[in-house]
Amino acid sequence: MAAEHIADNIKPPRVLVFDSGVGGLTVFSRLREARPDAQFTYVADDAGFPYGNMDAEALLARVVHLMDGLIAQLSPDIVVVACNTASTLVLPALRARFDIPFIGTVPAIKPAAEQTISGEITILATPGTVARDYTHDLIRKFADSSRVHLVGSTQLASFAERELSGNPVRDDVLRDEVAPVFVDRDGARTDMVVLACTHYPLLTKRLEHLAPWPVTWIDPAPAIARRMVQLLGEATNGVPLQTAHATFTSGQQPHEALLLALKQRGLEVDVHEKCAC
Ligand code: DGL
Repeated sequence: MAAEHIADNIKPPRVLVFDSGVGGLTVFSRLREARPDAQFTYVADDAGFPYGNMDAEALLARVVHLMDGLIAQLSPDIVVVACNTASTLVLPALRARFDIPFIGTVPAIKPAAEQTISGEITILATPGTVARDYTHDLIRKFADSSRVHLVGSTQLASFAERELSGNPVRDDVLRDEVAPVFVDRDGARTDMVVLACTHYPLLTKRLEHLAPWPVTWIDPAPAIARRMVQLLGEATNGVPLQTAHATFTSGQQPHEALLLALKQRGLEVDVHEKCAC
């Protein structure tokens, strides 16, 4: 449906990328590399952050309400929900409500199960994602011959927010938070860690240093970018790289370090009033 609509359109597609905070930037960067000609708007629902511990019903209502406003305002051709905690809950409701394609971000359990050698996989996510039926269904469907260890982190998304805001947590604090990720049982050690929250790849370099043994950290962003290109088609030749726009639902202007991080990713911040959400 949308692919034909967009392919017929000579204007660059409008893409809305949504997350609770800055985590979705890990997805956004890949999307922008894949379609530099697209007009991206990045919306961080920082007024609702963190989603990880939010009651499921409240989260569903919040995201649907926000999407009502954003879709009316921006008329995107496609929406990328760059948040596992939201995607594993709200995608069916969004797809039923709006007549545009939604790409979700869900735990990359299939590639982890395909690549593991030890058979020990850890899914590192927010408590919300760890609890979802969606996540458990993926495990049953794709990883029934692996041992899957679910780790729900209450802090890691906030640590990633701090990292990008120029206020990183200490190594020992980060190491303690991710210690449960590494399982060594019956002679087999974790070799695949699914980063099932878009905030976590912001910490990958530090996690690599702190890990007690080397593991593969699986980031779903490249697969999401491929899916977007499948739906939108390849970039239109000759269209210059577009400046993308970022909006924060708190209405607050981000501090200097974050502004710089956004700028480095090609994002300019639009300051709006705090949303009524
Ligand atoms: N970035 C979000 C995710 O992928 C969640 C972070 C949060 O708000 O707790 O799950």
